[in-house]
Amino acid sequence: MLVNLNDILSKARKGRYAVGAFNTSNLEITQAILRAAEDLRSPVIAATSEKAIRYAGIENISQMVIGMAKRTKIPVVLHLDHGKSYELCRECIRHGYTSVMIDASNLEFKENVELTKKVVRYARKRGVSVEAEIGRLAGIEDDLEVKESQAMYTDPDEARRFAEDTGCDALAVAIGTSHGAYKFKGKPKLRIDILKEIAGLVKTPLVLHGASGVKSRWINYVNRYGGNMEHARGVPDALIHQAVENGITKINTDTDLRIAFTAGVREYLTNHPSDFDPRKITAQARKRITDVVLDRIEVFGSGNKA
Ligand code: G3H
Ligand code: 13P
Ligand code: ZN
Repeated sequence: MLVNLNDILSKARKGRYAVGAFNTSNLEITQAILRAAEDLRSPVIAATSEKAIRYAGIENISQMVIGMAKRTKIPVVLHLDHGKSYELCRECIRHGYTSVMIDASNLEFKENVELTKKVVRYARKRGVSVEAEIGRLAGIEDDLEVKESQAMYTDPDEARRFAEDTGCDALAVAIGTSHGAYKFKGKPKLRIDILKEIAGLVKTPLVLHGASGVKSRWINYVNRYGGNMEHARGVPDALIHQAVENGITKINTDTDLRIAFTAGVREYLTNHPSDFDPRKITAQARKRITDVVLDRIEVFGSGNKA
């Protein structure tokens, strides 16, 4: 069943659990996301970045996800992740996306509000939900590099004004996570104090980006089969739990799926050196990704909420 964010996030906020948004760019990743969500009877968000759309083709990726979503009983959102322009959001909506993110977090507050409002106006008429972002994550956000020293935590009062002014349906906040596999140099730390303050002021569902767990058992798979991902570190489950308890209702995961895909491919090729059937290789990747998505859904607490 194809739904938008509003259909699943208000329930999540009331029920104090979070729904996972998982990035996809191909058939096997999408199958793994939906399979895991079906197994655990969880609502789920399939997200595509601008790069994923460029890689797969918007027609192909949207039709594939929409087709699969229509054939399952669980609620599935097709969401644009980190859309940088009004035009891209509009293009996705025209292709049947039920949700878009307009990420103008690199702009000044006023410009961010204006662009977000413009997208909300277009989307709302068409029954499409809109996520926006205020504050900047450390690390690499799409083509834009934000140095860790410049990372800006979300200001709670700005978040309140932003949510009220724009009427967005979900709001991504910066509380210390970053995209990618190398999130923390020392001990992992999130600004739960800032999150609590934001959640006290903002009724809009809050979103945590850069939330991959980068668990050592997944990294070990990659390394065991010839990879090299030393020093990779993600957000521990305990911090995810604290974030969910304090108001996060949508959690984005991409890196963990990439690691799982890589682990599966490396494992299969190492164990079957003479095999050359692509389906066997990607089937193992799909299996590893399914396991990771099952794990994430358990951690987020959205099982049996479909
Ligand atoms: O938020 C960033 C996602 O991990 C998307 O990454 O732009 O390389 O597809 P990408
Ligand atoms: P990770 O890199 O931690 O998986 O974050 C993904 C993300 O925020 C996608 O928008
Ligand atoms: Zn993100």
